[in-house]
Amino acid sequence: MTLHPDLASRPLGWIEESLEKLRQDGLLRSPRVRHGAQSAVIDLDGRRLVNFGSNDYLGLASDSRLRGAVQQALLQDGFGAGASPLVCGRAELHDRLENALAQFEGVESTIVFPSGFAANSGTIAALVGPGDAVYTDEKNHASIWDGCRLSRADVKVYRHCDPDHLDSLLAKHHHRRRLIVTDTVFSMDGDLAPLVELSEIAARHKAIMMVDEAHATGVFGERGGGLCEVCGVEERVPVRVGTLSKALGGIGGFTAGIRLLTAWLFQRARSYVYSTAFPASLCAASLTALDIVRTEPWRRRELLNRAARFRQALLSQGWNVGNSQSQIIPIVVGDAQAAVDLSAALHEAGFFVPAIRPPSVPQGEARLRISLTSAHQGDHLSQLLELLAKLRDRFLPRR
Ligand SMILES: Cc1ncc(COP(=O)(O)O)c(C=O)c1O
Repeated sequence: MTLHPDLASRPLGWIEESLEKLRQDGLLRSPRVRHGAQSAVIDLDGRRLVNFGSNDYLGLASDSRLRGAVQQALLQDGFGAGASPLVCGRAELHDRLENALAQFEGVESTIVFPSGFAANSGTIAALVGPGDAVYTDEKNHASIWDGCRLSRADVKVYRHCDPDHLDSLLAKHHHRRRLIVTDTVFSMDGDLAPLVELSEIAARHKAIMMVDEAHATGVFGERGGGLCEVCGVEERVPVRVGTLSKALGGIGGFTAGIRLLTAWLFQRARSYVYSTAFPASLCAASLTALDIVRTEPWRRRELLNRAARFRQALLSQGWNVGNSQSQIIPIVVGDAQAAVDLSAALHEAGFFVPAIRPPSVPQGEARLRISLTSAHQGDHLSQLLELLAKLRDRFLPRR
């Protein structure tokens, strides 16, 4: 077979055109480099900026106690894990972390994955397969979507935070096994899943309920146990995923539940079985972070109070913050280029507030994603508000 000459000489030539199209549509993303630690003020591409773009909600990513714990563990355990956890990559620190997480989550057992992405995709694909169905909120995170696709189960998408729609879909279809999966705090909207209603529906239809607490672990609940703790539905949600990479300031993800669940994932979650264990020394950071979450509840209380006040101030300026009820507060402007322009205007004034564009959000829902952390100082927030008040007329339709 002879190839078209252009394809034969430049088999990846189509990428040029596709990148150009992204650029024209205002969707091209460029890599940034941060110098120094993740914090409320960062040096990004050589500019000092107040940082509203990280998920370091409790300000632990550069906490000296986490650094110290990792340093000490590094000296003892070295760095690379060298193998899958099933071979010889799983160290004593992984074991200790899984036990501490089980205690924190109030479950029999947990299993730690190299990332939250791997926890979601691996867990879903291990729990359902061909002949089964997975019911997923339309705004769930990409790692959940990938898990659904990888599972080869029937994927049924219910409208965002709409228990009635989920109920009607479950009533319509019958499968061997059914899994319902939802984020608890949605990453781009900062709104909350109706967990009480969803878990009642799951019980009524004898479906398995799974949640992803990535943006809630350490932030929501008296103990920091997430939205399941707030809603009192822990018993009704047998599969709970969390991350170590956001409020806990580190890296990794985990799935929590009964011992049978984690025993199965240990055998069958492909993102766990076929991937090198993450460095044991990093478990030391998460162990320390869990202690801080337990002993310093003021961090999450202050963060959520601050978020409520900040949201209110944005609303009174006339911005569209959607249904945010968390530390993630979007400013929805609609057009991708408008979001980029608003982000650029803030950057110019010394604030990093990322523009989020399709495909991370649906077409026409481009936004700024403001992420508050307990490391922000009061005047970081008031200065941002002042600036947004000045930019309002340029980016909001006349009132
Ligand atoms: C809702 C949600 N789940 C899972 C993940 C993946 O977690 P990780 O960054 O630890 O891979 C993210 C990451 O942003 C997320 O927003």
